[in-house]
Amino acid sequence: MTDLQRVAVIGGGVMGNGIAQLSAMKGHDVRLVDVSQERLDSALASIGTSLDRFVKSGKLDAGDRADVLDRLRTTTSVADAVSDVDLVVEAVLERLDVKQAVLAEVVAHAPVAAVLGTNTSQLSITAIASALGDEAHRVVGMHFFNPAVLMRLVELVVGLETSPETLARAEAYAASLGKETVVCRKDSPGFLTSRFSAILRMEALHMLEEGLATPEDIDKAVKLAFNHPMGPLELGDFNGLDTYLDALTGLHAAHGERFRPPVELKNMVAAGRLGRKSGRGFYDHSGS
Ligand code: NAI
Repeated sequence: MTDLQRVAVIGGGVMGNGIAQLSAMKGHDVRLVDVSQERLDSALASIGTSLDRFVKSGKLDAGDRADVLDRLRTTTSVADAVSDVDLVVEAVLERLDVKQAVLAEVVAHAPVAAVLGTNTSQLSITAIASALGDEAHRVVGMHFFNPAVLMRLVELVVGLETSPETLARAEAYAASLGKETVVCRKDSPGFLTSRFSAILRMEALHMLEEGLATPEDIDKAVKLAFNHPMGPLELGDFNGLDTYLDALTGLHAAHGERFRPPVELKNMVAAGRLGRKSGRGFYDHSGS
């Protein structure tokens, strides 16, 4: 793994801290970067809690827990974090301008051979890379799933300029984390997985609008018939219905009618029923 030993993860939120933790657990030297020291502190706290769970369940030796944390360094300086890295995973918020600015800063300070992965869930890899001029060939979509330490898949996405070498090194990094990969060979909004999840959730919403069944039964049907750990409506509440509406709006603009956001969803977001975070969505979360 020497070729990809040193990894920087930019963005210490939900996804970034999971990717950083997993990388350190698999032996990489990791630098986790965030603009906010507070976010870094809470990322380290959640990584500690997660490692405790691994130790408790016998999946990690207590002695190895300290080694994992030794391999993980946090900083608020991109320049400091990336000066000697082999690969960067960008996991900052889902905004094109912010991702472009972060990667431009990375390119200014990282070795020329470093691979630049972006964990965007549906932005165009080509558009993100376009801010980097001749360095665009180093950018590849590396779409992890939440929680990154447990989910088995990394979806790799090839932008217009992504080089075969960049893709091969991203595949090698994902393999070093014990992940399976799929490659979306054309840069298309929603890639493979976000299109699937949007369609499933949208169909669940249409069934709800048609009064076919309760939210509980719609979710139960998907979980038990198809072996999904969560139903589409539960998952919508978990991730936030505003986020879901934003995603659908982007897919509708890119792919047309089949992704038109259902009226019921627009109404729920307008009413502030955003799911778990607002206490109410398809389900009542006021007690949780
Ligand atoms: P989050 O909001 O939990 O974390 C984003 C972090 O980026 C924050 O800690 C913020 O302080 C930091 N940040 C913002 N600007 C920065 C900058 N200029 N430099 C360094 N750090 C900066 O977001 P989350 O959920 O971790 O998502 C991150 C990315 O991963 C997004 O592109 C999202 O679409 C994608 N994603 C999210 C999934 C999810 O289930 N949450 C699943 C797969 C991908």
